[in-house]
Amino acid sequence: MDLKMQVDKNKLPQHVAVIMDGNGRWAKKRGFARVFGHKNGVNAVRDTVEAAAEIGIKNLTLYAFSTENWNRPKAEVDTLMNLLINSLKKELPTLQKNKIKLATIGNLSKLPAKAKAKLQEVIELTQHNTHLNLTLALNYGAREELVNATKSISKKIVNNELNVEEIDENIINSHLYTFNLPDVDFLIRTSGEKRISNFLLWQIAYAELYFTDVLWPDFSKDHFYQAILNYQSRERRFGKTSEQIENSK
Ligand code: IPE
Ligand code: IPE
Ligand code: MG
Repeated sequence: MDLKMQVDKNKLPQHVAVIMDGNGRWAKKRGFARVFGHKNGVNAVRDTVEAAAEIGIKNLTLYAFSTENWNRPKAEVDTLMNLLINSLKKELPTLQKNKIKLATIGNLSKLPAKAKAKLQEVIELTQHNTHLNLTLALNYGAREELVNATKSISKKIVNNELNVEEIDENIINSHLYTFNLPDVDFLIRTSGEKRISNFLLWQIAYAELYFTDVLWPDFSKDHFYQAILNYQSRERRFGKTSEQIENSK
């Protein structure tokens, strides 16, 4: 049966995050340069965003460029930035058609001016869309995010805008890039690597983790639905017992 039809619309994760990995290996397997993998990875981004929108996922966050990815060869970094600019241009109609609102997390100041301008433009043009919040993690690092949050909170204490005793999980949450997003319920990583690579450390505290060997450029709508079905088959206990969960249904 159609995988999409099997998805239970009443049991959707509120927030799905994806570590899109395996572009380089996908290209290498075919005897091509790594950048060819990134180019083909754009199709998987479109498919995944559309798939999420089609079943009614409200928040989708994609790891597109980490703070560590600057350490790659300059030519590859340049290609990734150019792909970002061109994809934003090309995919605007897809965003509007599916009523998708674009946002970013990460430190954009280090991005090329052209990329920043294009992002700003698409963010503004899509700001009233309400069907799906699509967040691109760009020059994103979870540790940097936590350092920045700590600095902002400290400044408020020094300025007497906040008492130390008032610091709680909500205060920390509200100083993260993701302040307006719910916790991540479901984290997908492609390419077979089983690590977090400095992505959303705070936000995934209770996320269900899903690892697939599929390389990112091959990741299709059906792979996404398969992942969601796997999520829906799990029992999330949040520290309670299985019996407690059963009895509260
Ligand atoms: C993910 O694919 C894309 C980015 C990190 C930007 P990779 O480029 O990491 O592909 P592999 O892991 O080398 O195969
Ligand atoms: C994580 O992938 C970053 C993105 C997907 C953007 P990497 O391929 O950079 O991660 P590591 O270095 O293998 O952990
Ligand atoms: Mg990788």
